[in-house]
Amino acid sequence: MFEAARWAPSANNEQPWVYLYATKEQPELWNKIFDTLMEGNKIWAKDAPLLVLAISRKDFISNGRPNASAKFDLGAANMLLSLQATELGLNVHQLGGFEKQKAIDTLNIPHTHDPVVVLAVGYLGEIDVLPDFLKQREAAERERYTQEVFVLNKSFSS
Ligand SMILES: Cc1cc2nc3c(=O)[nH]c(=O)nc-3n(C[C@H](O)[C@H](O)[C@H](O)COP(=O)(O)O)c2cc1C
Repeated sequence: MFEAARWAPSANNEQPWVYLYATKEQPELWNKIFDTLMEGNKIWAKDAPLLVLAISRKDFISNGRPNASAKFDLGAANMLLSLQATELGLNVHQLGGFEKQKAIDTLNIPHTHDPVVVLAVGYLGEIDVLPDFLKQREAAERERYTQEVFVLNKSFSS
């Protein structure tokens, strides 16, 4: 998965991503990531055998200026990681609901870096073990806007 992420394109080929991972066999580190999650996310992420904190590097290495593409590029890398996970029969759930400052403090993340999202990775479990509100969400049909909403072949209307 990390090898797939490694090949993501990025502005100036800066590759502004760092993945801090912990498996459940490393309870101390795994708990440090887990403890940053919002309560609603902890309910099912507690069973994830792998937690990954996806971190962006804020500035360009080449010239020290702020890299406006850093999170965009991290997102591309996360997507390749997710596709590779799917190929391996795994499932990735990105979680923006976590306490950034707690992650910075407990994992000693330097000010040059920005924790962006936690990835919970594992094999799909049984829906029955979830509390009712999550069961419904999990069983619901996946929804997206139709293409008319976001594909344009003309100027924005004034
Ligand atoms: C950056 C990002 C942050 C997210 N944060 C959360 C989160 O904190 N908790 C959660 O349950 N899902 C989270 N998700 C998952 C989205 O809610 C989910 O992708 C969306 O509802 C569409 O569902 P689907 O991908 O299963 O079709 C996040 C997804 C992304 C890309």
